[in-house]
Amino acid sequence: RVLRGRPLDLTGRKVVISAGGTREAIDPVRYIGNRSSGLQGYALARTAAARGAEVTLVAANVALSDPAGAKVVRVESAAEMREAVLSAAADADVVVMAAAVADFRPATRHDTKIKKTDGEPEPIFLTKNPDILAELGTLRRDARTAQVRSGDGTPPLPPSPSLPPEPASLGVATPQSPPSGVTSPEPGDSRPGGGGLEVASRRGLRAYPEVIVGFAAETDDVLANGQAKLARKGCDLLVVNQVGEGLAFGTPDNAATVLVAGGEPVEVPFGPKEDVADAVWDLVAARLS
Ligand code: CTP
Ligand code: CA
Repeated sequence: RVLRGRPLDLTGRKVVISAGGTREAIDPVRYIGNRSSGLQGYALARTAAARGAEVTLVAANVALSDPAGAKVVRVESAAEMREAVLSAAADADVVVMAAAVADFRPATRHDTKIKKTDGEPEPIFLTKNPDILAELGTLRRDARTAQVRSGDGTPPLPPSPSLPPEPASLGVATPQSPPSGVTSPEPGDSRPGGGGLEVASRRGLRAYPEVIVGFAAETDDVLANGQAKLARKGCDLLVVNQVGEGLAFGTPDNAATVLVAGGEPVEVPFGPKEDVADAVWDLVAARLS
């Protein structure tokens, strides 16, 4: 129905979309969660498939049926989502983080159900979860730096200046930069100086997703907070929603502002979440080489 009449401008592109909200276990029966329904992520998956993309949907705790034409990977916690997203991102052209990822998780998970006692309950201590979107931005920045240093010949894309230098860790292979001034050709690489992206692709990896998209739900100072977040996370697009009564969570309709790195914001008027999705794909398609 709504899916007809779309351009096939994502044909041959691999896109990874996260959807829903993570749950962080307190004990075997309880968790810390959030109100994300997954509707926006699923709208992104349907519309991307309709526009020709090969879609991997990483879904956390949604009560929605699998969209046609997408490979669905179901996860529960932020840690599981990170594994699934980073491994799918290794050969993706586009990653869209529409999921609500818990910022914190209980520092310890009880193996057995916490029992009610006569005394006051024990406090639940929290610890930080990894920031998947920021990690993708860092991995891409490092991959691009390594690619330029190893003499790939591709002109450097400007690094995101505000991104903190975070060590890349497990989950995906990271092209390592050689010491400065040293080029280290891979064994069997006939080209002088190696070639980061080429080496990565021979290992079955692309060096990075070309377009990274984040979402942000804000309750106040919506645009200022969004701009700061776009820069901090090193992503290309940030879809900002205002959250409040009847807005964004669990509803089929939404309005959004898409912030664009190095460009003007795009307003998407109140309407079906497919409209927000198509506005995102229009901007993504324009940024894909
Ligand atoms: N995100 C992520 N990993 C996290 C937290 C968030 O990948 N641990 C992603 C979300 O999927 C979203 C974007 O980052 O695409 C912005 O999430 P948001 O919660 O708005 O940003 P935070 O940096 O967590 O800031 P805050 O919650 O303090 O507003
Ligand atoms: Ca957050």
